[in-house]
Amino acid sequence: MSLAGRELILGVTGSIAAYKAVYLLRELTQLGAGVTVCLTEHAGEFVGPLTFRTLSGRPVLTDLFDPQSADAVEHVALAERAHAVLVAPATANLLAKAAHGIADDFLTTLLLAARSPVLMVPAMDGGMWEHPAVVANVATLRARGVTVLEPDAGALASGLSGKGRFPEPDAIVEALRRLLAPVRDFAGERLLITAGPTREPIDPVRYISNRSSGKMGYGLAAAALRRGAQVTLIAGPTQITPPPGAVFVPVQTAEEMREAVLQHLSSATVVIKAAAVADYRAKHPSAAKIKGKRDLTLELTPNPDILAEVAGRRTGAFVVGFAAETHDVAANARAKLEAKGIDLLVANDVSQRGIGFDADENEVLLLDRWGGTRALPRMPKSAVADAILSHTLAVRAAAATRKAVR
Ligand code: PMT
Repeated sequence: MSLAGRELILGVTGSIAAYKAVYLLRELTQLGAGVTVCLTEHAGEFVGPLTFRTLSGRPVLTDLFDPQSADAVEHVALAERAHAVLVAPATANLLAKAAHGIADDFLTTLLLAARSPVLMVPAMDGGMWEHPAVVANVATLRARGVTVLEPDAGALASGLSGKGRFPEPDAIVEALRRLLAPVRDFAGERLLITAGPTREPIDPVRYISNRSSGKMGYGLAAAALRRGAQVTLIAGPTQITPPPGAVFVPVQTAEEMREAVLQHLSSATVVIKAAAVADYRAKHPSAAKIKGKRDLTLELTPNPDILAEVAGRRTGAFVVGFAAETHDVAANARAKLEAKGIDLLVANDVSQRGIGFDADENEVLLLDRWGGTRALPRMPKSAVADAILSHTLAVRAAAATRKAVR
């Protein structure tokens, strides 16, 4: 695919790999793209603006607050015009700022203004790429729909070797092509997605809840939006910003989640319940704070089973549930699928480290009501989300064909 007619913004940050952005720029312009380069202050110390200006044939954006620059006030328009924004190389510092919405220079301001797809190409020392802060920032960006490429492994500028190398330009161009020609297979679909935990009050300061971070459900919402769906995201309390474009309904308790789900159910073509709904709530929550220093017996009562109720209403929506299991995953999940009367069940083994609750990755088993089973390997939750969505369409289409044949 030629990139003729495509308007791109190439953000370059302060990494030794900044010189490789020069080759990337040359490749992009040779493929016909119009590229506006935006250098951070530190990138300019590795490679000067003149090189990028010569190759792009355009002024290079360097400083948001440069009074000489007519473009300085145009960052919003520029971000809106672009078909995609690439940040290559993206340092750990840039990933952190983007994840937290910090806008203290031209590039980070432009990233906040961008409504087009964003591709980040990290390059850094191996130890840095694996640092929990960087891992968390990358997960936040991916959950928000940003494509973050995996760096290559090999010799690093620090003299060490590991994962952190700037990928080859071909791999970046390929990722860009995928981003610019996104699959729109969910166009016309209306997805109702639940995410996160619920909180069931015990008294005004305490509650029953669980470890769900919302990453899985938010990842599904971001992927569905990218693939053209209208998305209503109903979520319990999480730390994640809802993906732009979703109708967002925040809730606290299972009862509130049930009401919100039933209110939005009639228009949904697909329902996906990734939320970890608390199975029990306090039967008599106290209006006043319960005092300590004595034994306390808490009477619990079961919450409504929202998923089973949704399936029982038979609105015509394709219903996907999740199952958090700790043993005999396949057998328990199959029993749950049948008990709840749903179409597809996504089972994860939440006793495994690194997947399930509050993890950035997941490894799931997909079981459908027609007897099909598919195991997916461990992947980032954004990739699991895409695989679940693709499987949903495939299973639904196969079920429709079966019905038609009968
Ligand atoms: O949020 P993350 O940190 O990313 O973690 C993801 C996850 C582990 C929460 C997710 O992958 C997951 O497994 N979600 C379902 C968790 C759960 O509550 O599982 P369950 O087996 O208890 O419930 C089965 C299904 O019934 C779920 O779809 C649940 O939303 C639904 N349910 C459960 C109880 C209830 N009262 N009402 C419901 O609708």
